[in-house]
Amino acid sequence: MIETIGLGRDYVRGERALTVLHDVSFKVEDGEFVSITGPSGSGKSTLLGLLAGLDRPTRGRVLLAGQDLNAMDETRLSRFRGSRIGFVFQNFQLVPTLTALENVSLPLRLQDQSGADERAARMLERMGLADRLNHYPTQLSGGEMQRVAIARASVTSPSILFADEPTGNLDSASGDTVIDLLMDTRKNCTLVLVTHNPALAGLADREIRLRDGQVEQIVVHKKRSSKKAATKVARKATRKSGQTSTRKGKTSRKKASR
Ligand SMILES: Nc1ncnc2c1ncn2[C@@H]1O[C@H](COP(=O)(O)OP(=O)(O)O)[C@@H](O)[C@H]1O
Ligand SMILES: [Mg+2]
Repeated sequence: MIETIGLGRDYVRGERALTVLHDVSFKVEDGEFVSITGPSGSGKSTLLGLLAGLDRPTRGRVLLAGQDLNAMDETRLSRFRGSRIGFVFQNFQLVPTLTALENVSLPLRLQDQSGADERAARMLERMGLADRLNHYPTQLSGGEMQRVAIARASVTSPSILFADEPTGNLDSASGDTVIDLLMDTRKNCTLVLVTHNPALAGLADREIRLRDGQVEQIVVHKKRSSKKAATKVARKATRKSGQTSTRKGKTSRKKASR
């Protein structure tokens, strides 16, 4: 679960402190998909950066899986981010001197994980980029760079994936491909994304609307059944279909509790 409590962020501009986020409090459940929308300058990117531990708040707290990000020193925070969080930046932020494959295998290498290249290649294949492994970012289209960025963010199997306007710089066909890939990726994690695209925002379970650095409204698009209810349904379905094998039952319950 992600929880923000009275979150605030000021930026100092010249002599003055400018408050760009104030008193933001909400929760995101495990496995939930939440979109963040609002006018340009309303604080969406600032909020996403704080949630992902890329930036530190002026006031308030961010708890990820019960852990206060601000209580962690840089080393612990970066280790936590590396293993638990994926982030897709608005301008991709691929390393220009590395190939697509090297960009995607980098987070695995940083964690000394074995089989980094194989896993990265498989992830790029899933993104439809099997024939682009050895291309450098400048040799890729915007849509392809975004897919490499999503591959890099999800190759570590993070429990939370953040994305800042993932379709913002893409034509509608590339945007649709990226949306499909994100919807596929979200089956395995919590997804929090900033978007100006109403169709994408509407796919989320809930939409958090920001205005002037505050939560203006939280819109529920899909009612998520509670963990308990989902487990009950899964058990019932298992019994109904005559499945008595414990293994099957365990699998259903595990899926339902996501
Ligand atoms: N590093 C910074 N220094 C000073 N002001 C900033 C900085 N980053 C963002 N801001 C200001 O904070 C406000 C919110 O920015 P941002 O979170 O990027 O909005 P959004 O993503 O909703 O467009 C804007 O007014 C922006 O100019
Ligand atoms: Mg922004």
